[in-house]
Amino acid sequence: MARIALVTGGTRGIGAAISIALQRAGRHVIANYAGNTAAAEAFAKETGIETVKFDACDYDQCAAAVADITARHGTIEILVNNAGITRDAVIGKMSRDMWDAVIDTNLGSVFNLSKACYDGMKANKFGRIVSIGSINGQAGQYGQVNYASAKAGIHGFTKALSLEGARYGITVNAIAPGYVDTEMVRAVPPEVLEKIIAKIPRGRLGSTEDVGRGVVFLTADEADFITGSTLSINGGQHMY
Ligand code: CAA
Repeated sequence: MARIALVTGGTRGIGAAISIALQRAGRHVIANYAGNTAAAEAFAKETGIETVKFDACDYDQCAAAVADITARHGTIEILVNNAGITRDAVIGKMSRDMWDAVIDTNLGSVFNLSKACYDGMKANKFGRIVSIGSINGQAGQYGQVNYASAKAGIHGFTKALSLEGARYGITVNAIAPGYVDTEMVRAVPPEVLEKIIAKIPRGRLGSTEDVGRGVVFLTADEADFITGSTLSINGGQHMY
C-alpha cells in the first residue's frame, strides 16, 4: 500500500512541487492549505491530490486533521512541514504581530504537526519528517529577524527530534532552500532580488522542483540512515 504523506502548505509554491514530486514517487499525498480555497481547488483538479483545509498554527485543528486523515487513510508516515510566510521589516519597523505570525506559522506549525503525527509513526516503527528551513535561517538576512529565527528554530528542532525518533525508525531532516522562484521571493523588491541573484554561483533562482527532489530523496524508505541532517539546496550561495 502506498505510504500516506501530508504536506503543509502543499497546494502552492514549493509545497505544490513537493506534493507532486511525492505523488510521482508513488506516495498517497494529502496537501494542506490554510486559506486560499480557489488555488487549492485548482491544484486538486489538476493533480487529483486531496486537499485539506486547516490552520497549521492551531494546535487543536492540527490534532483533529491528523486524526481525521488517519481514520480515513491510515497512519501518516511521511510529514512535510512546509507551510511558511514572510513579514519582512527591519527590527525598528517590525511589530510584535509580525514576529508572532512568522514564529507561529513557520515554527509553531512544525511542533503541532510533528507532535500530532509522532505517535502513529512510532507505533508503525517507520516515519519520515522533513521540515523546510531556509538559507536565511543558516546565514541570517537583513529585514528578517522573525523569519531567520523561525527557520533557525526548525534546524534545531530537527536535530533534537531526530535523536528521539531514531530508535523507532523515524528519521527527521530539514531542507534549507536558497532563493527559489516563488511568489514569496518575487515579492522581494526587484533591486534587492537582483543583488541576491548576483550572489548565487549557479546564476539563477532555484526551481520549486529542485526542492521537491530533495524531499523525495529524504523520505525514501532507503534514506533510513539519514537523520538529523540539513540538505542545502541553494545553488552554492551559502555553504553551511
Ligand atoms: N544589507 C545591508 N543593508 C541593506 C540591505 C542588506 N541586505 N538591504 C537593505 N539595506 C539598507 C538599504 O540600502 C537602506 O540603506 P540607506 O537607508 O542607507 O539607503 C536601508 O537598509 C533601508 O532599506 P530599505 O529602504 O529597503 O528599507 P525598508 O524598510 O523599505 O525595507 C526590507 C527593508 C523590508 C528589509 C527590504 O529591504 C526587503 O524586503 N529586503 C529583502 C529581504 C529578503 O531578502 N527577504 C527574503 C524573502 S524570500 C524568503 O525569505 C525565502 C527564503 O527562505 C530564501
